[in-house]
Amino acid sequence: MINRVVADSTIATIKILQQPSKPEWIEMAIANFDTILLDHSHCERKAAGAAINLMFRYPAHQKLVRQLTAIAQEELSHFDQVNQWLEKRNLPLAALNAPPYFAQLKSQVRHPEPDRLVDLLLVSAIIEARSHERLGLIATYCPDAELAKFYRSLMASEARHYGIYWLLASEYSDRPALESRLTELGEYESSILATMHPEPRVHS
Ligand SMILES: [Fe+2]
Ligand SMILES: [Fe+2]
Repeated sequence: MINRVVADSTIATIKILQQPSKPEWIEMAIANFDTILLDHSHCERKAAGAAINLMFRYPAHQKLVRQLTAIAQEELSHFDQVNQWLEKRNLPLAALNAPPYFAQLKSQVRHPEPDRLVDLLLVSAIIEARSHERLGLIATYCPDAELAKFYRSLMASEARHYGIYWLLASEYSDRPALESRLTELGEYESSILATMHPEPRVHS
């Protein structure tokens, strides 16, 4: 464990998330950075996959297909950039167990339509918002200046992604219902992260 350099009060709550990350997470991430970088590669691949899966599920939703095509392309480009960092550091692109975070969030998705689509979009928005927050924390606390610059460059994209998912969700639900569902899912997401997963992951 590195010395406590991150105070609770220095981590801002990202809009749409209910709770900021705990200082313990950034300490764990910086102390296990090679594993976090590898997990980050898997996260970018999964983010591209999630966008593509949504398109397959809703192929006639023109605006959704168009915007998710752009997100999938961007996530694949992030995937490639992270993989280049792995290569630079001589780290093999190995398999890694996923943390329970994604499956637990997915378990909250309601089944009847259009609730299912709304929830899938909101869950993606929350995942993107948490990624944005955590990539930003890595950019702030990573001791390698070049890596920090790379992480800052990714932060803006993830912020844009959560905005796109949120706006897409607003096409399929009225605003009060959407905001109340976002709060419910956001509280659930914070409850998952309240107990830190023992393995170092971007979404521990
Ligand atoms: Fe990304
Ligand atoms: Fe993203």
